[in-house]
Amino acid sequence: MTILQPARQVSWLLCLSSLFPFVLGHAAIWHPSMYGFNVTDTTFPYDNRPVAPLYNMPFKQWWFHNHLDYPPHPSDTYQLEPGRPATLEIACNKQSTSYYASSGFGNHQGGDSPCPGSPPKQYHALNISDTKGCALAIAYKSDVRDIAPEDFAVFSINHTCVWHRFTEFQVPAKMPPCPLGGCHCAFFWIHSPDAGNEQMYMNGFKCTVANPVSVAQIAKPRVARRCGADPQNGKPHADPANCTNGAKQPLYWLQKERNNMFEGYYSPPYYNDLYNFKDGAQNDIFEDSNPANTKDNLVPRDGMTFGPVIGTEADAPEAQGRQQNTTPTAVSEFTNADVSPDPVIGVLLGLVIVAVVGLW
Ligand SMILES: *[C@@H]1O[C@H](CO)[C@@H](O)[C@H](O)[C@H]1NC(C)=O
Ligand SMILES: *[C@@H]1O[C@H](CO)[C@@H](O)[C@H](O)[C@H]1NC(C)=O
Ligand SMILES: *[C@@H]1O[C@H](CO)[C@@H](O)[C@H](O)[C@H]1NC(C)=O
Ligand SMILES: *[C@@H]1O[C@H](CO)[C@@H](O)[C@H](O)[C@H]1NC(C)=O
Repeated sequence: MTILQPARQVSWLLCLSSLFPFVLGHAAIWHPSMYGFNVTDTTFPYDNRPVAPLYNMPFKQWWFHNHLDYPPHPSDTYQLEPGRPATLEIACNKQSTSYYASSGFGNHQGGDSPCPGSPPKQYHALNISDTKGCALAIAYKSDVRDIAPEDFAVFSINHTCVWHRFTEFQVPAKMPPCPLGGCHCAFFWIHSPDAGNEQMYMNGFKCTVANPVSVAQIAKPRVARRCGADPQNGKPHADPANCTNGAKQPLYWLQKERNNMFEGYYSPPYYNDLYNFKDGAQNDIFEDSNPANTKDNLVPRDGMTFGPVIGTEADAPEAQGRQQNTTPTAVSEFTNADVSPDPVIGVLLGLVIVAVVGLW
């Protein structure tokens, strides 16, 4: 399957807009911790509201929805509570959320509906069994300009997105503390192709981990692979051997730059079993929680020697010390130096390791 030719796409758009005389209902998370909380359709030369879908864009335009210059107030950081659900509002527009007062419109909330007054097809699902899931990811970096797409690790999934306005995301109990200045999180969503044009959604927000009880490090996230049953594309059975286990990056798809997914327009990657994203908390993302996180995904860090790996990182004295130090008092010792090394250095060291192991 290839991407639609521009001419065909225009006719598609015309066809869709005649079916739906109203603006197609796209969706975003809404919270004061988000980047672009007050961005309207006139803030940018184009409609760059948080709900506007991302398609065929250069990196700067899709990354954080091009809202880096519209940060939240520092006091509005979202507090993730380990082991408890984070409930976020997802809606087609701000006036349908608790934050309608700053929308410039009236109060158009409609219970748990993300898009009051619209049929579900307007938020890209024919019915609840046609929802494809959405994700929250976290980067342990307080400087938003320092985050690369490869830094985000998906930590929570909800398979029935976008269906409920109030969507619960379970937060893994082992989420480690954020560096001074907090972390950054982002919401991601890709919907089914049977309900409108394909695109990707991303909204960034400022987050931190409140009352952490663990200092388990999140492993370096890897690119997810297609491995679930996919009857629509001629694969009736799942292929677990093809799955990426452990920490995974979000799905960056259909943009001009920095994609990590190269699926065709009608076979989108999803935040569900198709890419081994289980519903709920992603409890296998920590270095010590999944063999896949250490075996073929060495992230060099202080005190680690290079050479043939015997056992897993969890066997190392350093990791054992870390596991014992899981009382909240250890948390204050956490510093910026504990965040993963620069990805470029990581890649270079990775290549060196591959070369050395190859020679050996
Ligand atoms: C958004 O707009 C509201 C209402 O004007 C204002 O109180 C709030 O400070 C704004 N938030 C940001 C992040 O600009
Ligand atoms: C949901 O939509 C799918 C796709 O059109 C359809 O096959 C299925 O029967 C529908 N399920 C319900 C419960 O309506
Ligand atoms: C997904 O969100 C819905 C609506 O809030 C909630 O009922 C459901 O439990 C959530 N799923 C998970 C796995 O947390
Ligand atoms: C394995 O995953 C890759 C990457 O997502 C995908 O292109 C390929 O089709 C998958 N193979 C099987 C047999 O599922």
